[in-house]
Order: sequence, then structure tokens, then C-alpha cells
Amino acid sequence: MSERETWATRAGFILAAVGSAVGLGNIWQFPFKTAQFGGASFLLVYLIAALGIGIPAMLAEFVIGRKTNLNTIDAFEKLGYRNWRIVGAIGLATGFWILSYYSVVGGWVLRYIGGSITGAYFSDPAAYFGQVSAGPEALALHAVFMALVVGIVALGIEDGIEKATKLMVPSVVVMLVGLAAFAFTLPGASEGYAYFLSPDFGALAANFTEIVPFAVGQAFFSLSLGMGAMITYASYIDGDESLFADSVTIVVLNSFVGILAGLVVLPLLFAQGIDPNTSGAGAVFVSVATAFAELPAGQVLGFVFFVVVLIAALSSAISLLEVVVSWAVDNTSYSRPVIATGLGGVIFALGIPSAWDTAWLTWFDNLAYQLLLPLSVLGILVFAGWVFGRPALGELLKGSDFGDGVGLTWLWTARTVVIVAVVGTLLLGLQTLFV
Ligand code: PHE
Ligand code: NA
Repeated sequence: MSERETWATRAGFILAAVGSAVGLGNIWQFPFKTAQFGGASFLLVYLIAALGIGIPAMLAEFVIGRKTNLNTIDAFEKLGYRNWRIVGAIGLATGFWILSYYSVVGGWVLRYIGGSITGAYFSDPAAYFGQVSAGPEALALHAVFMALVVGIVALGIEDGIEKATKLMVPSVVVMLVGLAAFAFTLPGASEGYAYFLSPDFGALAANFTEIVPFAVGQAFFSLSLGMGAMITYASYIDGDESLFADSVTIVVLNSFVGILAGLVVLPLLFAQGIDPNTSGAGAVFVSVATAFAELPAGQVLGFVFFVVVLIAALSSAISLLEVVVSWAVDNTSYSRPVIATGLGGVIFALGIPSAWDTAWLTWFDNLAYQLLLPLSVLGILVFAGWVFGRPALGELLKGSDFGDGVGLTWLWTARTVVIVAVVGTLLLGLQTLFV
């Protein structure tokens, strides 16, 4: 086996991890869910979940990855716990599963970039979504999106993922800031801000038992936890650096992009009098497209917006493909490009039902969200906190200025509060899935 690849720089690792985290979850789901669940009061719950539960869980993945420099399955064996490879396997399967439909939505985004240029969705945004979201056209664009992902992953860690995300992450932020500045100038923008950011504690209290698990689940999905992505990316770290500092940077940037997206999307909708209280990936595409159709320079704005979404989706999708590719590179003698192409093909095939009918896509998404993700995160936490335990602390504190106190705080937070929160999320998720 040839020498394992590494990131060229620490910033390269952080940007790649931010690229994985920042995705459709931030730009589509986050602004709408915030608005729907009580604005600033939901934002508060989400931030507490991301910091209090997301950071400990992310650190657990980082420790496993950096300690072993191995893919998400073999890492557990190297630590001396062969049977716990099942946890890595669940994470790998979750990533595989999610990428199959994430890529279909990536294909929609490609279609909307084209639609902005030609103005194809301007006359009837709702009918347009119906035409392009399912069937042969969606399938073809699912293939194109997957091919882009395969192309980047085939180039490897430093030349592919690191170079690509170094460019992608800053450009997403810059373009979103530009769009937010434009949205600020629209009449009605202030209503959008009020809807997004004014706290509605009544709505929060009324839906608390629904909101908390949602906020936790959203934090996992949004931070790319529970699918092996952060274990895999941390396995390419060469040397010691403060994993605490890195995880805080990643969580803060991810939340920042979500808020920024809200500052773009909600003023746009309010300026056109569109009801933001719609749910589902499709409704979001339709409502945003409707706003662009009505706005002056909507073609240009729509183009820039959907390019931002595409870049964010691509940098997330490459982290998912890398999870399985990493495993195959560590375990077979095939070349990285052959592996990336082969596995990309299998994932494409798994996504065919979702591309054919959005009902399948919703089903795939629900299963991931409510079962696979929390289950996988739970396994990782129990392993890192209770099984691997104390030795994890040494790895965590390596390269940081923090003392044992911080390490122990992490260990006991992960062992108790975080595990309880994840179990609660899992139970509530199962209830909605099967009851
Ligand atoms: N974190 C991504 C988002 O917010 C989604 C994602 C999930 C990315 C799983 C990679 C892995 O959209
Ligand atoms: Na995210």
C-alpha cells in the first residue's frame, strides 16, 4: 500500500470540514425551519444544540480519525476494538445512503442554474419544479452531479478535495454576503428580518418536544456528523493541532452561513409577498424561484444564488463519497480514480428511485434523519466516551493548550448529556417513522 495522503495545511483541513458542513442543510432547510419554529428563539435552541452537543460529538469523531489515520471502519480495529467496526460500518452506510439522494437534489440545482440563464422557470415556477424534479431529466442531472463529485474525489486529498474546497468555501461566503446586501435594499426586507430573527417564545414553548429533537438532528446533519465524514477527514491530519479550536471554528462558520442564508432568502420572499411557511425541499425551490421571477435582474440573481447552492452541495457531497473511497483505498489495490468511479456508479444507482419520484427521496431522507444519523452518532459517542474513554483524552489534548479540566469536561459531557440527548432524538425519530 502506498503512503497515505494528508492535508497540506491545517487551514486546508478546516476549510474542507467547513465545506462538508456547509451545504443544502444551511441554505435550504435552516432559514425555513428557523422561521417556522419561532425565529430567534429556535436559533437559540439550535445554537445550544450545535455547541453543546455538536462540538462534543465532532470531537469524538476527530479523536478516532486522527488517532488512527484510518478509514471509518478500520479505525475501530486499530484502536483495539474489532467488534466496534460495526459502528464505523453504520456511519459508512449512512453516508452512502445520504449521498444517493443528496446528489439528486444537486441535479435539481444544476437544472435551476440553467433555468436562471434561460428564464425557463420565470413564467410558472411551480410547474417548472414538477417537470424537472423527477423523471428522465432529473436522472440525467443526478448523473452529471455525481460525475462532478467523482471527478474531484478522484484527484485525491491535497490536489482534489483540499484545492477545491479552499476555493469553494470563501466563494460561497462572498457571494452570500453580496446577495444579502442586495436583499437588504429590497422594500419589505425588514419584515423578512423580523420573521427570521424576532423571538417567538410562545411558538417555542408550544412545540418544545418537537423542536428539541429537531434542533439536535439538524445539528448532526448540518455538521456532517454520524456518517464517517469527520472521522475520515480527521484521519488525513498530519501532526498535532488543537482539535477543540478546529471544531469551534467549524461550528461557528457553519452557523454563520446558515444565518447568512436566512438574511438572503427571507427578505427575498417578503419583498415578493411569498409565504415562507412552506415545507419540503420542493416548496423551497418553488418559493425562491418565484421571488427571482418577480425581481428586477432576477436572472442574474437566480444564477448567482443557485451557483452558491451548487458549490455548497458539491463540497458536502465530496466528503460523503470520500468516506467510502477512503475505506476502499485503504483496503484494496485499485487506484483512487477507479475506486471513485466504481463507487460513484453504485451510489448513482441507489439514487435512481429518488430521481424518479420525489416520494422516494423524502423516504430516503426521513430514514437517514430519524434513524441512521442518530444511531450512528450514538454508537460513536458510546464508543469514544465509555469504551475508548480515557485514552481518547490524551489524543484530544495533544497539540492544544487546554488542560485536563477541559478534556474531562468533554469526556463527561459526551458520556452523559450528549448521549441522553441523542437517545431522546432517536426515540422521537423512531416514533415519527413508525407510529
Ligand atoms: N452538512 C451538510 C449540509 O448541511 C449535509 C451533509 C450531510 C454533508 C452529510 C455531508 C454529509 O447540507
Ligand atoms: Na450544514
